[in-house]
Amino acid sequence: MPLNVIVGLQWGDEGKGKITDLLSKNSDYVIRYQGGNNSGHSIHINNRHFVLHLIPSGIIYSHVNCIIGPGVVIDPKSLIQEIKNLESFGINTDKIYLSNRAHVIMPYHRLLDKYQEESLGKMSIGTTHRGIGPAYADKIGRVGIRIVDLMNIDLFRIKLKKNIDFKNQIITKIYKGDPIFFESIYEEYIEYAKIISHRIIDAVYEIHNAFHKRKKILFEGAQAMLLDINYGTYPYVTTSSCSTGGVCTGAGVPPSFLKNFIGIAKAYTTRVGNGPFPTEIKGDESSLIREKGNEYGTTTNRPRRCGWLDLVSLKYSCMINGINHLIITKLDVLSTLKVIKVCIEYRYNGKIIKYFPANIENNNIEVVYIEFYGWEKEIYHIRNYENLPENCKKYLKFIENYLNIRILLISVGPERTQNIIKNKSFF
Ligand code: IMP
Repeated sequence: MPLNVIVGLQWGDEGKGKITDLLSKNSDYVIRYQGGNNSGHSIHINNRHFVLHLIPSGIIYSHVNCIIGPGVVIDPKSLIQEIKNLESFGINTDKIYLSNRAHVIMPYHRLLDKYQEESLGKMSIGTTHRGIGPAYADKIGRVGIRIVDLMNIDLFRIKLKKNIDFKNQIITKIYKGDPIFFESIYEEYIEYAKIISHRIIDAVYEIHNAFHKRKKILFEGAQAMLLDINYGTYPYVTTSSCSTGGVCTGAGVPPSFLKNFIGIAKAYTTRVGNGPFPTEIKGDESSLIREKGNEYGTTTNRPRRCGWLDLVSLKYSCMINGINHLIITKLDVLSTLKVIKVCIEYRYNGKIIKYFPANIENNNIEVVYIEFYGWEKEIYHIRNYENLPENCKKYLKFIENYLNIRILLISVGPERTQNIIKNKSFF
């Protein structure tokens, strides 16, 4: 059974939650493989709005097993709250499982995230302050605490004590902050462990068994390619592998299991947080897009920076991710514009280039655009590709031709039903 992977191709917030929800209908498992509660996946169903940070977007369908995989960092406090929120909407949460290998976000990670950002001053990353970076740093530094450790009270006590002693040195000596105390954190996390213990599984074996039973599995990426720790706009990135390659390391599956690599891009570009953004719009059109597209961060509520579609970076993302199916979201947001620009090349250090350089900065790159006439009418009600305005089809055709990838679906509104499906075999 071919396994599907969904990834964002820009700087996040492409609408992965909505698309994962759609594809979940025909999935037995939906698995998160990286990131943590820094992500915010929105699902709109009949005027009800669900926001998921850590729980896979398959949860709205009661038949779907939702696994928070080994490569994810889990903040138990936030997870428990998210489960409660879903239950208050009447959603069945019985099938939420956590990998015993996933790492745990501790209060000192959140604190260090804040201190690090403050100390960077003007060079701050603009993180979500959820402790994601410090938790992954501990993982790589081999001092992290894993979900499995919460099940062994004595070992957890030793690991936590060592971590708190060390972190207190950093907090008090480097950042001149107040120390944190072992006992209260220990007690707090022992309580969390009791609440989540029945959800903890060996996700690697669960996923492999499901694969051999020919179950339909969907891997849901969080954040997006240009925030990837290896291939994004470093250092203005998140701290995990948001690419399709991250599925193998973050869920423990070989590349040979994977078949459909579904890339999601907005019809324009947004970015929340700091860092280079070549096609960013500075003028009125930016607020027009922000308001019509409701471009405010789902996790932090920050206004998102808005810009034109950047096909150079999109091609780079598709190349690294091996994208073989494309989804374009929020096309309806462009409906009122007279002219729509698309970046097709950069001028980088005085030369025209068609690749995404490793050291993009806002002052070493200029954008070469081509312009399209807008379609200047609403399209949110259209469900059939043929009924789209001609200028809109020209825009989509250009994207397909530039990337040489066919579009699977076009999203024209936040509701579950607001889609133009071009390849019905997936849905
Ligand atoms: P962190 O992941 O909280 O460390 O933040 C690092 C960068 O990734 C910041 O620019 C964040 O705004 C950005 N980021 C993290 N998660 C998301 C997301 O889900 N959507 C968009 N940007 C994100």
